Amino acid sequence: MAIAFSVNGKQVEVEADADTPLLWVLRDDLGMTGTKFGCGIAACGACSVHVDGNLTRSCSVPLSEIEGAEITTIEGLKAADGTLHKVQAAWIDAQVPQCGYCQSGQIMAAVALIEKVGTPSDAQIDEAMTNICRCGTYPRIRKAILAATGAAAAAQQGDA
Ligand code: FES
Ligand code: FES
Repeated sequence: MAIAFSVNGKQVEVEADADTPLLWVLRDDLGMTGTKFGCGIAACGACSVHVDGNLTRSCSVPLSEIEGAEITTIEGLKAADGTLHKVQAAWIDAQVPQCGYCQSGQIMAAVALIEKVGTPSDAQIDEAMTNICRCGTYPRIRKAILAATGAAAAAQQGDA
C-alpha cells in the first residue's frame, strides 16, 4: 500500500506492506539510518522518533498507522542553517556517547521530555528516560539534559 506522511518537514510517499514497522521504512525506504534497531519489541528505545510530537518507538508502529503523520527523526533536529538543537549541542559538550548506538534514541527522548516539561526534575528524568544504554552513559545523559535546559548552570551559580 502507498502511505503519505511527512518526515522532518518533507512530504514523502512510501509503497510497502501495511504492517512494515516505521523504523524499517525510515531506514530502508528513506535511507535515514540515524534511527537505530535494538530490540524490535519497544523495549530499548534505540528506534525513538517523534510522531506528531509524541515520543514513539518506531520499531513497533506499523506503516498503516502513520498516514498523514508528521515524523521527526534525529536527522531533523538541527535547524535549516545547520545549527544543532540545544540538546545535541549539550550532548557534545558533555561528551555523552560511548559506542553511540543508543544515542539518537536518547536524544529524541530528551528533546521530547524538555518540550513537554521545560526543565525536568531528577524524578521526571528518571521517569521519562527509559531508553537502555548498554555502555552506561546515564550520568552523562542526565548532565546533558540539565545543561540543555540551563538547570546545570543555575545549580552551579547556587553553589557559588
Ligand atoms: S528497537 Fe525499538 S524499542 Fe528497541
Ligand atoms: S553509548 Fe553505547 S549503548 Fe549507549
